[in-house]
Amino acid sequence: MRIYVPRDAAARALGADAVARAVAAEAERRGLAVELVRNGTRGMIWLEPLLEVETAAGRTAFGPVSAADVPGLFDAGFGAHPLALGPVEAIPFFARQTRLTFARCGLTDPLSLAEYEANGGLAGLRRALGMDGRAIVDEVTGSGLRGRGGAGFPTGIKWATVLDAKADRKYVVCNADEGDSGTFADRMIMEGDPFVLIEGMVIAGIAVGADMGYLYVRSEYPDAIAAMQAAIAIARDAGLLGRSVLGSDRAFDMEVRVGAGAYVCGEETSLLNSLEGKRGVVRAKPPLPAIAGLFGKPTVINNVISLASVPVILEKGAAFYKDFGLGRSRGTIPLQIAGNVRYGGLFETAFGMTLGEIVEEIGGGTASGRPVKAVQVGGPLGAYMPVGKFDTPFGYEEFDGQGGLIGHAGIVVFDDTVDMMKMARFAMEFCAVESCGKCTPCRIGSVRGVETIDRIARGDAAGVEILTDLCDTMKDGSLCALGGFTPFPVMSALRHFPEDFSASHKEAAE
Ligand SMILES: Cc1cc2nc3c(=O)[nH]c(=O)nc-3n(C[C@H](O)[C@H](O)[C@H](O)COP(=O)(O)O)c2cc1C
Ligand code: SF4
Repeated sequence: MRIYVPRDAAARALGADAVARAVAAEAERRGLAVELVRNGTRGMIWLEPLLEVETAAGRTAFGPVSAADVPGLFDAGFGAHPLALGPVEAIPFFARQTRLTFARCGLTDPLSLAEYEANGGLAGLRRALGMDGRAIVDEVTGSGLRGRGGAGFPTGIKWATVLDAKADRKYVVCNADEGDSGTFADRMIMEGDPFVLIEGMVIAGIAVGADMGYLYVRSEYPDAIAAMQAAIAIARDAGLLGRSVLGSDRAFDMEVRVGAGAYVCGEETSLLNSLEGKRGVVRAKPPLPAIAGLFGKPTVINNVISLASVPVILEKGAAFYKDFGLGRSRGTIPLQIAGNVRYGGLFETAFGMTLGEIVEEIGGGTASGRPVKAVQVGGPLGAYMPVGKFDTPFGYEEFDGQGGLIGHAGIVVFDDTVDMMKMARFAMEFCAVESCGKCTPCRIGSVRGVETIDRIARGDAAGVEILTDLCDTMKDGSLCALGGFTPFPVMSALRHFPEDFSASHKEAAE
């Protein structure tokens, strides 16, 4: 009998290790031969720990399982049981997804390279090895893939700049800082399918002529760090990394670097400074990292999901990937549904679903059962979207047109008890705490922002005009998007929920 219990950090936080131990102990007590596989998560966090059993009819799931449930599951022969969910693929949250980047996540032992290959892994790299750099870059450009880290810049165009740059050394850097609130896609792929990220980085390296890659990951992700380090060692032993990638004449190796933890170190130039051992301060652009990046050399810097989406593009072709999506947002996006929501988790889908469908149908509305008041999309710098904007399709331009951004596709839901003035204050406070300090509109502006919102809270109506003016200054004058985008959550809160900024609201709250 084969039983799967996830090793993903979210599942572990919810008791997966205790469930795994209980399964092993119960099997031994009953004298049953059980193969216990610690897989990645399927992404349905409200069902974790999600235990799966392999049957003749496929994999069937139970969840959320606690260690105390395990003897009962054995008694029931892993059949009829109150926690039975049926085949994973038939659970509506899972069935409605289009899994391209996360196709393997949760299926297998993440550190089994043999299972990775058996499930389609390395097909993209093998194809890439038969192509020259330009052809690989053209394939990525043709797929329409845009950076999933936040800015949505076309990945192929970035790669072409590095390919065309003349230098004795080039680098590939993977941005796994994942600082946005409500996001966990990078962590989930690193823990659940680390080889897909390695494969994507190798393809990037051979495409642009870089033979070294660095994965910059936040220290708060110990499980992801361990998974990536183990996977890199396995990949090296198997010849996937090293002087001769899969026996070819192309070389590529990579290492993990752990950041000490600062939101601004997710900003690409700050990240490069941190990688070089310097303080994580933003660099002025130009030069672009693609021209003068890590150690002054041309550098591809991409988000985890951008790189992990490359293998399927090379395997199935640009046209296949481009066929999914809406407008200029091509392919799929792993939505991360979080906050006060009934069904929280990772939902990979083609661009184009409306925000309302995502929150109400997929997410099932709020966990509290109260009406949704606002949804923050795109991390701490993303706008608060009111219910009135729920018909906005999920796409870069579509959100931009509504004064929002999709960022890394984190979606944080709030019910009607949220105080939007407090959320606006939090945005300014977050910016003040996380500012790298290089430019005045952000460093000083965010502190003034907190003070001004406090003035409004004390009933000073003139504060609203000052706050609006301050936000314009931060938007126009900041060097990077930390100071430049903080006005999005602040102004969206003010615009869509003015009643929360009024003196009468403040009196009611007291
Ligand atoms: C304050 C700030 C924080 C950022 N944090 C991240 C992050 O955690 N992860 C990420 O991939 N990109 C982050 N970015 C975006 C990066 O600067 C950069 O655009 C991205 O790594 C490029 O990769 P992509 O083209 O694949 O998205 C951040 C940007 C800013 C301004
Ligand atoms: S906007 Fe803020 S984080 Fe960005 S460079 Fe200026 S001070 Fe640093």
